[in-house]
Amino acid sequence: MKKLRVELGERSYPIYIGSGLLSQSELITSHIKSKQVVVVTNETIAPLYLEAVLKNLAGYSVETVILPDGEQFKTLDFVSQIFDKLLSCKFSRNATLIALGGGVVGDMGGFAAACYQRGIAFLQIPTTLLAQVDSSVGGKTGVNHPLGKNMIGAFYQPQCVIADADVLDTLDDRQLSAGLAEVIKYGLIRDLEFFEWLENNIDALLARDKQALAYAIERSCINKAEIVAEDETETGIRATLNLGHTFGHALETGAGYGKFLHGEAVAIGTCQAADLSKRLGWLDEGDVTRIIGLFKKARLPVEPPEDMDAARFLDLMAVDKKNVDGQIRLILLEKIGIATLPVDVALDLLEMTLKTYGRR
Ligand code: NAD
Ligand code: GLY
Repeated sequence: MKKLRVELGERSYPIYIGSGLLSQSELITSHIKSKQVVVVTNETIAPLYLEAVLKNLAGYSVETVILPDGEQFKTLDFVSQIFDKLLSCKFSRNATLIALGGGVVGDMGGFAAACYQRGIAFLQIPTTLLAQVDSSVGGKTGVNHPLGKNMIGAFYQPQCVIADADVLDTLDDRQLSAGLAEVIKYGLIRDLEFFEWLENNIDALLARDKQALAYAIERSCINKAEIVAEDETETGIRATLNLGHTFGHALETGAGYGKFLHGEAVAIGTCQAADLSKRLGWLDEGDVTRIIGLFKKARLPVEPPEDMDAARFLDLMAVDKKNVDGQIRLILLEKIGIATLPVDVALDLLEMTLKTYGRR
């Protein structure tokens, strides 16, 4: 097992990465605050892993909340189901919430933990590649609004992250690829050597080679932990984690939550960001081809759908947390391995990318 640490002073916490972690009771129970524990998961993950987690909790007073599965249920209404359970069971402020699932369950469970009685302890047990390399680390929690993705939320750090690579065995290929989009992101924004490693090892990752996956999870978490330690609440460098996300979030909202997987939307959005970076003279044609090529090899989509035209993108991109006074601000690439901080982009250049990149 590897143990990393997110350094945030008194809110620091470990990330455990390895095999067979779900049966290591001590790992889980050492981060639980009292006898009251609620496990939040969804209807797909519950039959696969809930029992394994509950086995570690003999002697605790345990409740479960099983949410419906899907990005379209990442709403305040469904977070309320968690509050209903906590209140009806009279759970107190020293209760602990365990979020067992992908990014949707993790974001919702974390947000419920942040709000219930103004904050109870929570543990992240991420079960998708995307959640293990990104969403479970760093304390961004929240839900979607019909008018904007992840627009309601809080920064709230977990007690620990337990990333058991064995659970990826049941993840389907499309979800694995979606997770790879966020893995590739770390290479693009700050880790050229990792980007090159990914170019050479993408086939092993797609073939679920355990060693390759463990390395990709660890290297991604190292990158994420460093960024979060430097800028927990995204006043600077943390925004670089949003490479491709402004385009991607617009796509997710515009297409209807759940149509594109988050990682798929990020892959398309990152290719759009690369195209725009080329228009600004930062990337050259060869860089853009390399980036698109890696996403394609990872079996990810790289072009926006026909029905999302430039006007629709612009309308949706106007609702983004990086925007200031209504001005769209984007993370772009100076080079492969170096991202910009949020940039005010000239509208005509952005429109050019939206109208021409990936359009036949
Ligand atoms: P997800 O949570 O919807 O999970 C994907 C699918 O895989 C679901 O159907 C789920 O039930 C299923 N699943 C999960 N684990 C499984 C397993 N081990 N075996 C079989 N099936 C399994 O999607 P995701 O890609 O994990 O997360 C996407 C969400 O994360 C988005 O809402 C996105 O906004 C959010 N996100 C948050 C952050 C953050 O910093 N908080 C970062 C990136 C993404
Ligand atoms: N996934 C973006 C962030 O954690 O900041």
